[in-house]
Amino acid sequence: REGIKIEKSCEQGVCGTCLCDVLEGEPDHRDVYLTDEEKESNDQILACCSRSKTKQLVLDI
Ligand code: FES
Repeated sequence: REGIKIEKSCEQGVCGTCLCDVLEGEPDHRDVYLTDEEKESNDQILACCSRSKTKQLVLDI
């Protein structure tokens, strides 16, 4: 919608192609790629399928 392109492949949270660093906010992880430990650290997100638990989520794209 904002014209920002993220490299992606499976679009199902499986392959890891769309992995982005999280700079601010808390992701709502909906992928099966990251480990539970990685999800708990909240410093990366699979942008194709995950969402945000916070009003704003800042990604390093
Ligand atoms: S495109 Fe495969 S995990 Fe996002």
